[in-house]
Amino acid sequence: MNKIHAAITAVNGYVPDYILTNQELESIVDTTDEWITSRTGIKERRILKGEGLGTSDMAVHAVNGLLKKRGITAEEIELIIFCTTTPDMPFPATANVLADKIGAINAWGYDISAACSGFIFGLSTAAQFIESGKHKKILVVGGDKMSSIINYEDRTTCIIFGDGCGAVLLEPNEEGNGIIDSVLKSDGAGRQYLHQKAGGSVKPATHETVDNKEHFVHQEGQAVFKFAVTNMANVAAEIMERNDLSSDDVTWLVPHQANKRIIDATASRMGLGAEKVMINIQRYGNTTNGTIPLCLWEWESQLKKGDNIILAAFGGGFTWGSVYIKWAY
Ligand code: UT7
Repeated sequence: MNKIHAAITAVNGYVPDYILTNQELESIVDTTDEWITSRTGIKERRILKGEGLGTSDMAVHAVNGLLKKRGITAEEIELIIFCTTTPDMPFPATANVLADKIGAINAWGYDISAACSGFIFGLSTAAQFIESGKHKKILVVGGDKMSSIINYEDRTTCIIFGDGCGAVLLEPNEEGNGIIDSVLKSDGAGRQYLHQKAGGSVKPATHETVDNKEHFVHQEGQAVFKFAVTNMANVAAEIMERNDLSSDDVTWLVPHQANKRIIDATASRMGLGAEKVMINIQRYGNTTNGTIPLCLWEWESQLKKGDNIILAAFGGGFTWGSVYIKWAY
């Protein structure tokens, strides 16, 4: 019997309608379109508006569309892994909320918290359940309502992040396509540079933590940039090397969309031209767990069976990693 790989067999995405442009940000904080564009590559990002809407609501759109595309029902899903930094609530898991909202009554599920690397951590985790034969249909969802933890008075963070969600279906493949390899890393010593100060067990919410704006993203941009630019490029190069892939062999790089300069450095280290790199940061900004599945969704029609695709991410924690996929359809 051939080895079973976990293959992506469908992908879908959802971004909210509201577009927050650089021009609108110019009227909110002391910034310019020129600064944001040249330092990050971002022109606009999407914001989820509406009372009572959370990350799971974007996932409902993405997943319902995905099920329709694949021609299956929610009852057929066995496991949901929801990768997010902005869960609907601290508990229960947003995977459970999503299962309830879409009617995935036969699925169990849990959330993965690995900041911007969450989706590739989730994908790799889900693959184990397929490869072992335990499950045959797994949803891996990556999404964030970053606007819920962004301080729109802080020009260093509010210009970067946006809201969005993507989802993939994983199924067994015996033709040699699917997730071939992954290199995943984390280093908790980097947590000081990118985190949310309050709202956890160390510093539960109080009037003071709210007044001090400690429930928002705290990022020391330059320090994170330095780690990200080196580690994302290194890990992408590492996965190419250990799978004997030359730059000619790689069909696509799907990088986490945090900063265009980090993406360019990773592509350059891999020896790839811009035509092989999926970039939509200019339209969506950094949607954290959403960036990679949203790229796959937008580029899906250009992907071909057997394409060698490298995913690469870097995020708070620190977390980083790379996944090598042979596209299955
Ligand atoms: O996805 C998770 C991982 N996160 C990342 O990978 C993000 C990594 N970091 C970055 O992408 C960049 O560090 C930022 C985009 C956050 C910032 O870019 P930078 O080139 O590192 O800028 P900087 O922080 O070094 O700031 C340079 C200058 C400063 O002014 P002075 O001190 O030189 O006078 C900032 O105050 O730019 C100023 N500045 C701004 N100016 C206009 C910071 N934010 C803004 C702004 N508009 N929005």
